[in-house]
Amino acid sequence: MEIKKVGVVGCGLMGSGIAQVSATAGFEVTVLEVEQRFLDKGFTGIEKSLAKFSEKGNLKEDPAAVRARLKGTTNKQDLAYCDIVIEAITENVAEKKQMFASLDPIVRKDAILATNTSSISVTELLSATKRPERLIGMHFFNPVPLMKLVEVVRTIATAPDVYESGYQFGKKLGKVPVRTSDKTGFIVNRLLVPYLLDAIRAYEEGVASIPDIDNAMKLGCGYPMGPFTLLDFVGLDTTYYITHVMYDEFKEGRFASPPLLKRLVMAGWYGRKTGKGFYDYADPNNPVPGNFD
Ligand code: 3HC
Repeated sequence: MEIKKVGVVGCGLMGSGIAQVSATAGFEVTVLEVEQRFLDKGFTGIEKSLAKFSEKGNLKEDPAAVRARLKGTTNKQDLAYCDIVIEAITENVAEKKQMFASLDPIVRKDAILATNTSSISVTELLSATKRPERLIGMHFFNPVPLMKLVEVVRTIATAPDVYESGYQFGKKLGKVPVRTSDKTGFIVNRLLVPYLLDAIRAYEEGVASIPDIDNAMKLGCGYPMGPFTLLDFVGLDTTYYITHVMYDEFKEGRFASPPLLKRLVMAGWYGRKTGKGFYDYADPNNPVPGNFD
């Protein structure tokens, strides 16, 4: 099927990024939020990001032309004529199920439904819709406008043509899609999460300091960010949530949260977004590593 109109549910970090890349790729995009102020915040971020791409000559057209393809709404009915609807709301099974159930009678019957979940089983969401064969996972990476990957996830119920359309849509967004089945964590988080948790365990065991572990992995392996910088970037609350889902699925110690991660989350230190995590971001240009001995 040909996708022309894109619906995005949620205008947070991920939803706004997905909306931005969809509009940049030439699609008409409608973004649904619960309140106008969330749309305003998300669209301000999109405008800044488009301006950056434009300044560097990395946007084929005027940012205003891309922006004109983006529409915000707080009315679900406005998603009725979308060819694909990508859900990017908070990582909560009940809320996602409720969202898909409420979209079911509204969105056209031949549309593709997609979830950007990073850890929740796509299969678990099937029961919320009367068209399980049309639901896929499309897992994007933060920051969406810069990260080239999208994991396209199939469940045992996904119709092959729907899956292929989702995969081709990923390509049209300028991303590199990879195919994966619906096993918790898919490809990236299955490998990334144990690595991040091992970095915390290494620190807990006194192997090295936080900046030394970060520098070791950055400079020794060519990673763009060391594990603690990346943990703070992804969000410690998000990572902690993912560890629970993964541990619950696999019952393997490598997916279990180290005590220090739990303590930082309990303290409300979620990383960059709260100004404090493994680093202190009082001066965002000069993060100061914490000492948690
Ligand atoms: N829009 C447009 N341009 C942007 C931008 C945005 N949203 N964000 C940053 N940029 C630009 C910057 O302005 C900068 O431009 P300049 O070189 O002209 O100054 C350029 O991109 C590079 O940015 P920075 O200098 O700030 O920093 P980096 O060179 O380190 O690049 C990065 C930033 C791409 C985020 C890089 O550090 C990186 O790849 N980090 C790893 C990110 C990662 O692993 N993400 C995945 C997380 S896991 C996940 O999302 C899954 C989930 O389920 C947990």
